[in-house]
Amino acid sequence: MSSLLSLVSHSPESTREIGRILGQAAEAGDAFLLTGPLGAGKTCLTQGIAWGLGVEGYARSPTFVLVTRYRGRLTLHHIDLFRIEDPLEAWDLGLDEYLSDSGVCVVEWADRAVEVFPPDCLWINLEYGSEETERQIDINVKEGTHTRLLDGLKRAPAWKSGNVETG
Ligand SMILES: Nc1ncnc2c1ncn2[C@@H]1O[C@H](COP(=O)(O)OP(=O)(O)OP(=O)(O)O)[C@@H](O)[C@H]1O
Ligand SMILES: [Mg+2]
Repeated sequence: MSSLLSLVSHSPESTREIGRILGQAAEAGDAFLLTGPLGAGKTCLTQGIAWGLGVEGYARSPTFVLVTRYRGRLTLHHIDLFRIEDPLEAWDLGLDEYLSDSGVCVVEWADRAVEVFPPDCLWINLEYGSEETERQIDINVKEGTHTRLLDGLKRAPAWKSGNVETG
């Protein structure tokens, strides 16, 4: 049984704020797997997660280097799989090691290597909304496992558009 926590963001600031709340709740070993088209706001959300982890400054998209590491209260591994052509390349990057160390992983374009990820990761899909600065952010919730990460967002319902049971 899983469900979607559906949020609507009306600005980059609001997307970063959603990320910040997730980052604040993150613990060692957590992984946020981001999907959605170019420019949907994956890096923007990652920036917020980084701030929530206490990282200073701006996280840039690691599209060319594939992995960037930031130091916060936990280490953040920011990974971008846009450029991989085969899921096997994710293993070559050492993705499984990043996922199993004591840091936190954020992976953009995680759908390029679905089979690499363990089942307890939090999948987040971002889509364009009907207005230029509107984004729909759907967080895939597996019963029980993600309560800690999502409690903060549920308490701050400004962006909440509904809870959708997906069976
Ligand atoms: N509500 C919003 N949330 C996030 N970004 C927004 C929003 N409204 C407008 N934007 C703009 O959309 C762009 C999002 O860019 P970002 O680099 O985060 O996307 P991305 O999904 O990481 O793209 P890529 O697939 O190229 O890595 C930014 O220019 C940002 O200012
Ligand atoms: Mg990006």
